[in-house]
Amino acid sequence: MNPKTILSFLIQLAILPACFAQHPNEAAVDYHLPDVLRTQSGKEINTVADWEKIRRPEITALFEKNVQGKTPVKNIPLRFVPLSVSHNALNGTATRKQVRVYFSRNEKYYMDILLYLPNKKNKPVPVFVGLNFGGNQVVNADTGILISKRWVKYATEPAYKNHLGTAASRGVQSNDWCVEKIIAAGYGVATVYYGDLQPDSVNSVNAGVAPLFYTKGQKEPAADEWGAIGVWAWGLSRVLDYMETDGDIDAKKVIVIGHSRLGKTALWAGAQDQRFAMVISNNSGEGGAAITRRKYGETIAVMNKAFPHWFCGNFKKYNDKEDELPVDFHELIALIAPRPVYIASASQDQWADPLGEYLSGWYATPVYALYGLKGLSTPVPPGISQPVGDGVIGYHLRKGEHAITPYDWDQYIRFANRFFNK
Ligand code: GCU
Repeated sequence: MNPKTILSFLIQLAILPACFAQHPNEAAVDYHLPDVLRTQSGKEINTVADWEKIRRPEITALFEKNVQGKTPVKNIPLRFVPLSVSHNALNGTATRKQVRVYFSRNEKYYMDILLYLPNKKNKPVPVFVGLNFGGNQVVNADTGILISKRWVKYATEPAYKNHLGTAASRGVQSNDWCVEKIIAAGYGVATVYYGDLQPDSVNSVNAGVAPLFYTKGQKEPAADEWGAIGVWAWGLSRVLDYMETDGDIDAKKVIVIGHSRLGKTALWAGAQDQRFAMVISNNSGEGGAAITRRKYGETIAVMNKAFPHWFCGNFKKYNDKEDELPVDFHELIALIAPRPVYIASASQDQWADPLGEYLSGWYATPVYALYGLKGLSTPVPPGISQPVGDGVIGYHLRKGEHAITPYDWDQYIRFANRFFNK
């Protein structure tokens, strides 16, 4: 047995009784990860300088070419138009701003930022930013929020009618956002409906903002160019561009967060854009924090079949060929170093491979160590409701299903407080 197989075996012995015993395929899991600190040509990386000059750009380029696709650096001029401001939102505790960001003179290309900032503050505040699934109005029942006019994938009445949000959709995902809790903790929160950037449906590539990325005559992204996740992540960086212009926000303390497919997106945004000060992956699973070579739960082939629009054309080459992918997803976490990162799983979300999500933090730890920072201390994940991470990588396994809940937010706020608010 090679050392990784032995390690995998020991981990199984240690944790199976706790939470994974009901999943017989765990015993079959065996894999060999690419070494995060060795270049493709075999050079060992021992210093921060070599990591930042050689290996980090190499890994970023490998993800761009093979996984999410490259998003253009082409300078798209942004125009920020305030839509509304109220200093008396959420019972007077918060200021609500809504800002439209135009990406072109053609006014169909825009995204709407919804932003809440605590009124109790004496300096610019740190802010959580993430995309939402249902239109900005779903994040809180606040009737001042403009109802999105974009297509949504939901069609269940009365909240949605013909795939458009109605007044009944106000606040339907407020438990996912916990705006009041975030404000009370002294943070701002910003969100954009991901469908403002690209609809989450197959063949949607020309229905969002991506046509602005094309070179002359181009009709679709090349095999190594962006999928929807690349476009969504690009949008998160544009929210940060706005934040750098808003004096109420400390743009050096912006925490990018996402759940599930939007967790995959938050990781990619944080990996590419070093301005994000902290990154949170909530149940991001395959194509996010989970180690793909474990082939546990969802696999590349299954995901590419159900959601062919998420990743780039080249990613399809790795359907059922995880071991040939020149990267694995611990390296996506490593790209975030030295910034704090938090990975969260849920006990019943085996589809997202909780152990694989934890292990990506563990296998990214040597890169944090290069900076003299503490990552995770053991390959053995904690039990349910036992958050770990007194260094710069945090992790918890929440009891329950695939979701983002107030419990998750409590952990994120506690972790963020160590860096930004206390
Ligand atoms: C599906 C998909 C996952 C994804 C999830 C979500 O379950 O298989 O990869 O993370 O949807 O975004 O909710």
